[in-house]
Amino acid sequence: MLVRGLLIAPSLVGVLATPLIQSIDVRTPRAVQAADPQSCPGYTAMNVNQTGSSFSADLVLAGEACNVYGPDLTQLKLTVTYEESSRIHVKIADPEGKRYQVPESVLPRPSSSNCNSASASILFKYIASPFSFSIVRNGTNEVLFDTSSYPLIFEPQYLRIKTSLPQNANIYGLGEHSDPFRLPHGITRTMWARDAYGIPINSNLYSSQPIYLEHRPTGTHGVFLLNSNGMDIKLSDEGANSTLEYNIIGGILDFYFLSGPNPADVARQYANIVDLPAEMPYWGFGFHQCRYGYKDYVNVATVIGNYEKAGIPLETMWTDIDYMDQRKVFTNDANYFPTDKMREIVDRLHEKNQHYILMVDPAVAYQPNTSYIAYDEGIKADVFMKRPNGTTFKSVVWPGVTVFPDWFHPNVSNYWTEQFLRFFDKDTGIDIDGAWIDMNDPATFCDYPCIDPFQSARNQSIPPPRLSPPPAPGTLVPPFKRAVAATNATGLNYLEPPYHINNTNGAISDLTAYTDIIHANGLIEYDTHNMYGHMMAVETRKAMLMRRPGKRPIVITRSTYAGTGHYTGKWLGDNLSQWDKYRSSIAGMLGMASIAQVPMVGSDVCGFGGNTTENLCARWAMLGAFYPFYRNHNQDVATSQEFYLWASVTQAAKNAIDMRYRLLDYIYTAFHQAHLDGSPVLSPLFYKYPKDSNTFGLDLQFFYGDSILVSPVTDENSTSVSIYLPKDIFYDFLTYAPVQGQGANVQLTDVGFTTIPVHIRGGAVLPLRTSSAMTTFALRQQDFNVVVAPGTDGKATGSLYLDDGESITPSATTEIKFDFSGSKLTASGTFSYDAQVKVGLVTFLNVTSAKSVLVNGKAVDAGKVEFSAATKSLVATTGISLKSGFTVELK
Ligand code: NOJ
Repeated sequence: MLVRGLLIAPSLVGVLATPLIQSIDVRTPRAVQAADPQSCPGYTAMNVNQTGSSFSADLVLAGEACNVYGPDLTQLKLTVTYEESSRIHVKIADPEGKRYQVPESVLPRPSSSNCNSASASILFKYIASPFSFSIVRNGTNEVLFDTSSYPLIFEPQYLRIKTSLPQNANIYGLGEHSDPFRLPHGITRTMWARDAYGIPINSNLYSSQPIYLEHRPTGTHGVFLLNSNGMDIKLSDEGANSTLEYNIIGGILDFYFLSGPNPADVARQYANIVDLPAEMPYWGFGFHQCRYGYKDYVNVATVIGNYEKAGIPLETMWTDIDYMDQRKVFTNDANYFPTDKMREIVDRLHEKNQHYILMVDPAVAYQPNTSYIAYDEGIKADVFMKRPNGTTFKSVVWPGVTVFPDWFHPNVSNYWTEQFLRFFDKDTGIDIDGAWIDMNDPATFCDYPCIDPFQSARNQSIPPPRLSPPPAPGTLVPPFKRAVAATNATGLNYLEPPYHINNTNGAISDLTAYTDIIHANGLIEYDTHNMYGHMMAVETRKAMLMRRPGKRPIVITRSTYAGTGHYTGKWLGDNLSQWDKYRSSIAGMLGMASIAQVPMVGSDVCGFGGNTTENLCARWAMLGAFYPFYRNHNQDVATSQEFYLWASVTQAAKNAIDMRYRLLDYIYTAFHQAHLDGSPVLSPLFYKYPKDSNTFGLDLQFFYGDSILVSPVTDENSTSVSIYLPKDIFYDFLTYAPVQGQGANVQLTDVGFTTIPVHIRGGAVLPLRTSSAMTTFALRQQDFNVVVAPGTDGKATGSLYLDDGESITPSATTEIKFDFSGSKLTASGTFSYDAQVKVGLVTFLNVTSAKSVLVNGKAVDAGKVEFSAATKSLVATTGISLKSGFTVELK
């Protein structure tokens, strides 16, 4: 019997309660794993109950257990809540609620349930037996998610749920990956954080972000599965349909469906669940220089000096693990990076309004009885992770044998913060401005006890040892001894569960913390692995907040989970100095910034592994200037790649930084907006042109903020690029000349190696700084150039947010809305922050003839108004105070 009903249909309860019997052949027991998931019986919805905006039912196994990867649970509990008009929460769990769920302490959930199906924009529908459900748009009945063709499977270590999708569905997200932004069908996206040197395609990488967006010309919706267990998500084509199939090795099914209907709505709706992204300090948007392999403090100081000599703005210098004593976290090498010299470097940076960031790894060297404080205090506070037999878990990372903080331990916050306060002390230690946290997937070099692959390098007493690249993914060092995989008393195998996810590193405990580790609160690493980096990020932010009270911390992490953007930024790990990695960096960045709500993101500019080339580095210096997080970083064994090493790269970097810095308040304002409501700071083209199907697969161009279209040259050694311009008006960022997009590709030629094509989308008012500067501090002293770029309707809008650039709670802020319509620009808002600069220029684009300009009704001297017929732009030199609203009119 099939019954389809709306959540609000109480009259169906009686019908649903009718037991459904299927014929069961008890004589042929199924062999474990032999069962075809499609032949599984699924469940029957019974005891349906509805109260207000929520709905529940018992799901009872509807026939003979199929036991695909373990015994089917015979009973489940379904709860459905209309939490918001745009959000339905569907949870399928064990009736007792004893199975692992992502703890509220890690990801606090919104608890609203202030909606019902009458006012909801999406609806939950179900079929009673075998139980399936669908999510449909209210009004149109468009089906967004539909499990009806695929039985639900729910076993202790295997959950399967599968939905039909329209043919060739446009699916985005399910990061972290380096695949095309619109996911190719036939792909398996595996959620299992791992150290992923080289960031191969079709592979699990450092983060797990189990959210996807599906975009249709009729609207966009989002699906977030709140589950931190390992899983394979398969996007396939089956006959006339596409499908998405979750194969999960634990936890529960905890889905949030987000109605959109615009892509940016989905981003905001997702932020309502995982929280809003952290606000970054203004200086964080400056240019950062890093490398692995700066051999001593002289080397670091020389690089800083060389940037200055070359006239390339360097905002922040970084140092990798090289500074550590034998690579032990919270130490520095007394000979190569002595404290007094490090402090001199920091003082000099600070004098010049520059900044310093150091690497902090989670693994603490296992060095008992050596007076190594970070180890001794960790043991005292009992904060290191433990194996089931109670012994401290050990493995091998940079310093050799190491132990690992248990982020669930009640003492770990204090422990971590104390290490920061001691080692990074302003008066006696190294006064860092931000923290870089790495290897927190968490990564290990071999499966302990094992041979440390870097032991021989370590034995050469030439500190700091020059280490070779990490082992290739999946390489095991002989004699390899994996922890013995055993089924525990509850019948669960935490090291080698029966369903093997597609982890590129091999088994789930390979090259990471063993998954049978029991955390201090009783949770098993098997369930929480994907959140290790996230939890380190949370603790590191807290530590930095204690270190610099009241100031926005900047922490850049490698591994993320849902919600990490609320605490930190992220870089995209160990890419290679190759053109395909340069290209895929755009999709990787969009995945984090426009879907996963981790907007402070960027890739290693010029490439991490392997040697870069002059042309690649020049192009990357310019593309990177439009990453929110802009850092040149390089591997120890690669040739140097600081921008000043080549004349063309120097010029490319200067040109791009000039654009970036003039746009800095614009992107800072976008970040502020993201922090208020989750609006995406970067957008793929379809976010802005959701009806234009030509945009759906584009991932080599993107919008930086709302209105800056970035279209880099993407082919090796080429000076041309074919870019897509939607049917809309654009303006060249440098010349201001209008360009009418036709909804077609345009071939740009002669794009030299110091140029990146950037356009302003019509309809924008951009608050640019009149000129760039060597530091963001100096930039803040430049006046504004308000650029009015009308859309096809002749109108434009924009905004500007100003504050002190670093306080968590600024004492004063200025928030300006710009509106241009007819021929008049109006700036209005609140003006309590005194930026001590003026609007020095107002620039109008697409002006057909010379005109006079009135500021607040008063004519500007004709000599101060310049009209260019060639570019159709008119620039008025003004001196408008930013202490109150104003108007600027063309007459
Ligand atoms: C791995 C990181 O991904 C990389 O950026 C860093 O340079 C090395 N670890 C050394 O710390």
